[in-house]
Amino acid sequence: MARSKIAGVGHYVPERIVTNNELSQIIDTSDEWIIERTGIHERRFIDPAKDTLANMSAKASQMALERAGIDAGEIDMIVFATITPDYFFPGSGVLLQRELGLESIPALDLRNACSGFIYALSTADQFIRTGMYKKILVVGAEIQSTALDLTTRGRSTAVIFGDGAGAAVLTASEEPGILSTHLHSDGRFAEELYVKDPGSSRPREERQPEQILDTSTYKVYMNGNLVFKHAVVRFQEVIQEALEENNMDISDIDLLIPHQANLRISNYLQQKLGLAEDKVYNNIMRYGNTTAGSIPIAMSEAWQEGKIKDNDIVCLAAFGSGFTWASALIKW
Ligand code: UT7
Repeated sequence: MARSKIAGVGHYVPERIVTNNELSQIIDTSDEWIIERTGIHERRFIDPAKDTLANMSAKASQMALERAGIDAGEIDMIVFATITPDYFFPGSGVLLQRELGLESIPALDLRNACSGFIYALSTADQFIRTGMYKKILVVGAEIQSTALDLTTRGRSTAVIFGDGAGAAVLTASEEPGILSTHLHSDGRFAEELYVKDPGSSRPREERQPEQILDTSTYKVYMNGNLVFKHAVVRFQEVIQEALEENNMDISDIDLLIPHQANLRISNYLQQKLGLAEDKVYNNIMRYGNTTAGSIPIAMSEAWQEGKIKDNDIVCLAAFGSGFTWASALIKW
């Protein structure tokens, strides 16, 4: 059976930097609170006049393709993870396909929030293992800024999320590459981190924009404390699951790239797992939580900074809305 490997990674973030101090001018928060509770110093917000999810993803994809030494025309399939597509439908996969000038290849959209990129990577890996495709573009990207409640009422989520795109080119390989992926979900907690609208099961009157007086249901709701408690447990479980499957232990990991949800979560994991500080990659300080974008952006930056080298064992892990959680163990 064929196996897959990551041949190149890339990322793109919008130019506009939004600092904590800028946010504290419009909502009741402070640089100190945000840094202490989340580790975030700044994030990127799109300029709606020029950035779209499709064009940001195309820039991230072009970087990944270039680093892989592969021409866009060689790609057999796109797997696109996002919960913030440019349109309610179709998904952003086809828009990326158009942006890259590709014709007729399949574009699959996944909406597994913070775990989205690992779900997408796992899906692409299965297509390569079966021999159906050989070169797949896997993308995780998000525009969160336009749905944030940038008022004091929404401050617990408004200060966390940011925009950005990441991509990886997955190719067929004799040697794995992707050693294993583990995917999980628990829908009992769906409403603990969600955006309710525009929900299709609403009565018709409530879905008509002119009838909507309260737009809070169009904004991110998160029960932060509960999400945090589940996240720290599930992250550990799914990392251990990956190690056990591959007869490895924590000392085999060269770099852990956790979904960038909160620096406190990353630091807690690092200590609980007994990993050295330089074995856990974090860039939440610069970008906040970019949901499905966070892992591929971090992977691309870590590679660029020389923190991922050939033959390194890299562990990806994520937790988020759904709840969903997932891990991938990779031999680079
Ligand atoms: O990516 C998907 C997965 N997401 C996560 O894993 C996120 C998990 N959760 C978290 O990261 C944290 O729960 C938050 C960062 C969202 C919140 O941090 P916290 O330490 O759990 O704070 P809290 O919600 O318990 O709030 C503590 C206090 C409250 O005030 P009182 O009730 O103690 O007076 C909040 O009203 O902090 C207040 N607060 C703020 N103060 C200043 C909440 N947000 C802010 C803010 N600025 N932005």
